[in-house]
Amino acid sequence: MKRFAVFVSGGGSNLEAIIEALKNGKIEAELSLVVSDNISAYALKRAERAGVERLSFNPKDYSSKEDYEALIIGELERRDIDFIVLAGFMRILSPYFVNNYKDKILNIHPALLPSFPGEHAVRDALKSGVDKTGVTVHFVDEGVDSGPIIVQDIELIKADDTEEVLLERLHKIEHRLYPEVIDFFAKGKILVKGRDVKIIAKGE
Ligand code: GRF
Repeated sequence: MKRFAVFVSGGGSNLEAIIEALKNGKIEAELSLVVSDNISAYALKRAERAGVERLSFNPKDYSSKEDYEALIIGELERRDIDFIVLAGFMRILSPYFVNNYKDKILNIHPALLPSFPGEHAVRDALKSGVDKTGVTVHFVDEGVDSGPIIVQDIELIKADDTEEVLLERLHKIEHRLYPEVIDFFAKGKILVKGRDVKIIAKGE
């Protein structure tokens, strides 16, 4: 069975959905480690409750990104981690890190990429006046929210939507979609070649 780590920075509602899916046998893989760059992230409490090993670090304690990334890579290697799931991890990983786990890092983003990359995707979509947005699960490359897209799900924007209300609906999609994608990836059913992603459907 494949082993994975989840990287978080904040609340960790996606982490919770992943833990729940694991409990219900909906992800055939082992969550071996939760990594946080924020020692007071609520996500760490969720990991603790689920009995998952945690590693948190404060980037300010390191003289360079390479330093703390080398530490993380060491910890991942020690646990034979096969792939990484970013779930609200607010730090850009360096090309050194990304290349070390090429095509093995997944991210979820609350917009239909390539529209609205970055930290304020929901706010930006609302401001722009588009009538639909959504959720994207993608591989992580060296850019910001720019890697090969695995799957997207659309959500219509309502006239009276606030950022909070829309985010809540997007979270519901995320919590359903991400565990499914993680399970598919763990089973080797998501193939990536350059920017082309192929999902092997049931029976194929
Ligand atoms: C999610 O909306 C995800 O799309 C984005 O960060 C948010 C994390 O939320 N990358 P949570 O910490 O999982 O609740």
